Amino acid sequence: MNTAAEHDRSPAAAYARSAEAAGRAPSIHNTQPWHWRVHPDRLDLFADTTRALPGTDPDERMLLVSCGGALHHAQVALRAQGHLAQVRPLPDPAQPDLLATLTISGDEPATAQDVRLVQAIQLRHTDRRPTVDLAVTAEQVDELRRIAGEFGVHLHKLTRDQVSELAVAVSRAEEAAAADPAMQAETAAWTGPGRPADAGVPPEFIPDRRPETDVGEREFTARGALAVGGGHDKSSTYAVLFGEADDRAAWLRAGQALSAVWLHATALGLAVLPYSQVIEIDGSRAMMRRILSNLGYAYVVLRLGVADPDHPLPGHTPRFPFDTTTTIDPS
Ligand SMILES: Cc1cc2nc3c(=O)[nH]c(=O)nc-3n(C[C@H](O)[C@H](O)[C@H](O)COP(=O)(O)O)c2cc1C
Repeated sequence: MNTAAEHDRSPAAAYARSAEAAGRAPSIHNTQPWHWRVHPDRLDLFADTTRALPGTDPDERMLLVSCGGALHHAQVALRAQGHLAQVRPLPDPAQPDLLATLTISGDEPATAQDVRLVQAIQLRHTDRRPTVDLAVTAEQVDELRRIAGEFGVHLHKLTRDQVSELAVAVSRAEEAAAADPAMQAETAAWTGPGRPADAGVPPEFIPDRRPETDVGEREFTARGALAVGGGHDKSSTYAVLFGEADDRAAWLRAGQALSAVWLHATALGLAVLPYSQVIEIDGSRAMMRRILSNLGYAYVVLRLGVADPDHPLPGHTPRFPFDTTTTIDPS
């Protein structure tokens, strides 16, 4: 639990509360690869490379995207407490693991939308069940595109033909992952029976059988226990978050955009499933670039849809305790 008392209005208390809220951010295999340092005058976000996945994610692309998501969660939490924040991404080249510094730059009452977003942090989850037969509207996609754009990231809704190409790229990625012992070992370590108690993906969040979908879901090594209905992905919208650069700063921004899109989608009642294996594997990542007509680099693929109301998810995936992921600087 966070040590900041509810009535404590100091910046340090606001930073600590934001770091705590950011703990609920999504991350690759629920590795939560971040560490926060709360200072009296700023909040620092570090990559925790002890939770990196060198076999699956050798460039730390998904680690940076995950940390970008935590950064955006912290921004949302600061805003909901009535603070405006300045973000300095990758502020010190001598400290590559210092990913961002957040500083309160002013105060302004939170709007209703700010409050809805911070509430969405508690509701958001990854939904691997097939979606029901209701389409995501063009207005909803436009809204999510606008939100990604605020971070300099594009959201492209795939056409029917591009979804077929995506399905091929995803199955290539699955084959490559299945043949890679390092990837298999990491997937097992974070999603199998020996996963850490406060992290990883428990079986209740993994489908108990392969859903009937055109675009295959990520294969986890462990058997799942999440009951799935007979739904399909025909009504789902597949979209790609992409941008012009493919470096650490771009991946961090992609994570902020992913979080913003996901929280807004949650507030709109939409279910979200990220697909990253197709980006992790070099060959399928190149296929995604071709699907985008070489206009940019794909960061993550999203399946958006309306969740199956007959099969609720069993709560939320676990998280590390606050003091595992946060250090409070006493000075
Ligand atoms: C960068 C990133 C990549 C992810 N890739 C996948 C994926 O390929 N397949 C999948 O089923 N879930 C994927 N996830 C979802 C995570 O497994 C999920 O966020 C984590 O288990 C925590 O669960 P929650 O999102 O329900 O809180 C990804 C999440 C992030 C942030």
